[in-house]
Amino acid sequence: MNDIQMMNTIQSVNYPIYFDNSIDELVDFVKQGHYSRFFILTDENTAVHCLPMVKDRFADEDNFDIIEINAGEESKDIDFCIGIWKMLIDFGADRKSLIINLGGGVISDMGGFAASTFKRGIDFVHVPTTLLSQVDASVGGKTGIDIDSIKNIIGTFTPPKAVFISYDFLKTLPARQILSGLAEMLKHGLIADAALWDALKTSDLTLPAAELIYWSIEIKNKVVIEDPTEKGIRKSLNFGHTIGHAVETNSLINDENPLTHGEAIAIGMICEAYLSYKKTGLSLQELEEIVRVINALYPKYNLDAVDQAVLCGLMLKDKKNLNGKINCTLLTRIGECQLDNICTDAELCESLTYYASL
Ligand SMILES: NC(=O)c1ccc[n+]([C@@H]2O[C@H](COP(=O)([O-])OP(=O)(O)OC[C@H]3O[C@@H](n4cnc5c(N)ncnc54)[C@H](O)[C@@H]3O)[C@@H](O)[C@H]2O)c1
Ligand SMILES: [Zn+2]
Repeated sequence: MNDIQMMNTIQSVNYPIYFDNSIDELVDFVKQGHYSRFFILTDENTAVHCLPMVKDRFADEDNFDIIEINAGEESKDIDFCIGIWKMLIDFGADRKSLIINLGGGVISDMGGFAASTFKRGIDFVHVPTTLLSQVDASVGGKTGIDIDSIKNIIGTFTPPKAVFISYDFLKTLPARQILSGLAEMLKHGLIADAALWDALKTSDLTLPAAELIYWSIEIKNKVVIEDPTEKGIRKSLNFGHTIGHAVETNSLINDENPLTHGEAIAIGMICEAYLSYKKTGLSLQELEEIVRVINALYPKYNLDAVDQAVLCGLMLKDKKNLNGKINCTLLTRIGECQLDNICTDAELCESLTYYASL
């Protein structure tokens, strides 16, 4: 892992990402911001595992409140968002208030959305507490909520004022949630940096090392700086997501114990690696390596039980498509990708069949 040199701060579009153990920086930021009030948004799990580490540091302040919501994707909807807005009103939030989003991607997406629309926008910062939100959701300025099972269909591009990452939060994260974030790290290696992929495939990933997390954030950050509003290169981050999102949505609707985002993306990455082998020159050897690494980490999912036509229908609804054509980011080799590959239903079904045959 000699390739990576960790700094205290990664500069994003127009805000800093503090790394690592950055609660000190959070406290300084809040005090120097002279906010009229601030609000810490948590869910029921981060309230237990993460809030004490933050709240204790503000023991001498009397101008903040805690807003707690239920944990899980089901909370990321307009009803919970209205609940947040109402609590902000009840607690006397004004335009000089701050929201601190303390949690995973559900908290950062919805807290960011609630803040970016409350009184036409108030300041917010992210304190990401899951691996997925550290390497992905808290970087890049997308906020959003779901409607029914359509994910992130309502949202804004609004950057946080800062992001504060602390590795320590990951120590209470369940193994399945670590694996969920790991899928995005693997993706970052596959689309942009073969050296990260190589480092990941040879590491103990029970709890990925801080250096690997930093490296992964740097890749995502570089992409969003180049293309903040997803007109071009940011689409590279969609590798594995065209098929993965459809599998995830279908699982959320039908499975008793639905797939996590990362588990679905892992399936999507195998299918889209297969499409890359068929369409954009990924070698058979590299396809087999990707399959070997991913299948060793993630449990096999039974795609035989899923109607392929239903999945293709879900892919068509994806907001990334234009003119009714299904669009994929595919790999040309490990560490390099190609945007905007139109895939037919027959090709997509073939890739699903390939996954099922493994
Ligand atoms: N905005 C973006 O660019 C972007 C990118 C990727 C994903 N997302 C969104 O992120 C969401 C998924 O994020 P997630 O996987 O972090 O889900 P999540 O926020 O639901 O967190 C997963 C679970 O971990 C718990 N948890 C969080 N921190 C913990 C800790 N330190 N210890 C113990 N438990 C903890 C949570 O309570 C929850 O039960 C999705 O809604 C997705 O759409 C957004
Ligand atoms: Zn993702």
